Amino acid sequence: MSSPFFAERLNAAAADTEALLERLLGDTPMPGETTRPERLVAAMRHAALGGGKRLRPFLLVESAALFDAPRDGALLAGCALELLHCYSLVHDDLPAMDNDDLRRGRPTVHKAFDEATAILAGDALLTLAFDILSRDEIHADAGVRIALVRELSRAAGLGGMAGGQMLDLSAEGRFSEKRALSESEIVTLQAMKTGALLRFACRAGAILGQADATAAAAVARYGAAIGEAFQIADDLLDVEGDAATLGKAAGKDASAGKATLVAALGIAGARQKLERLIAEADSALAPFGAKADTLRAAARFIAERRN
Ligand code: IPE
Ligand code: IPE
Ligand code: MG
Ligand code: MG
Ligand code: MG
Repeated sequence: MSSPFFAERLNAAAADTEALLERLLGDTPMPGETTRPERLVAAMRHAALGGGKRLRPFLLVESAALFDAPRDGALLAGCALELLHCYSLVHDDLPAMDNDDLRRGRPTVHKAFDEATAILAGDALLTLAFDILSRDEIHADAGVRIALVRELSRAAGLGGMAGGQMLDLSAEGRFSEKRALSESEIVTLQAMKTGALLRFACRAGAILGQADATAAAAVARYGAAIGEAFQIADDLLDVEGDAATLGKAAGKDASAGKATLVAALGIAGARQKLERLIAEADSALAPFGAKADTLRAAARFIAERRN
């Protein structure tokens, strides 16, 4: 499937992310903090450490490398994004949302702790992400840091992940009578709930590398394609995978009445669409030549992953 070279780079980014997150979530108070409530730190650590593919930090680091931006700042920005992603998972799993007990092969945060602690851990992970993005170590130019903060706010908020989660729950028919969504409505929902953070990972690399508008647009096009592909792959895995491999429950989307392209197009139709998106991701990278080979392999990995 993926080349050994790709696996090496993904593993390196994952290991570096883990080490940096371990430091960021230590028990030493940061400047401005009096004390770090032990239970909250423990829940944040449960959510963020020791699991996950770390695909978002990896994409951020590799996109930044396209523009020769320093790796340290990119890795730190990647950790901010990963913390925000972990928050989205903690809240996504809550009983009021998808009501899941298993995540990354372990009990979800509200199961290991309690619901109130899970809500607060999510809040604190989300806000820590922006604290980190504002730090000098991200980039010497404050304008670059502000651009990252603004882009991540938009990717995570009303027009991005949180808005997409609202559409996702609404589509289940929880708040009014259920109605089947059109394919384009599902694409919009998924571009918001999942695509936005993956798109941000790629765009952030271009921001850190102060890329010109044409190159930034090419990377954004790649990010949009893999963002869309990522949720289709997740929805296929929900149907075809098992909890032991996924580290989370399988087979829940259909019974919950989730609006997915697998439900709308069938397994074969969703797979075809996934292939088209990988080709689109590939063609978006054409201007970068061999320098983008790792990102090309990442698109393939997204389509073929088993968890
Ligand atoms: C799961 O994301 C949530 C979705 C957006 C579908 P990942 O599959 O990246 O989860 P981890 O971080 O590897 O656990
Ligand atoms: C996740 O979509 C989207 C998020 C914004 C967290 P899912 O609800 O399908 O993700 P999993 O399958 O629980 O990881
Ligand atoms: Mg969900
Ligand atoms: Mg879920
Ligand atoms: Mg899912």
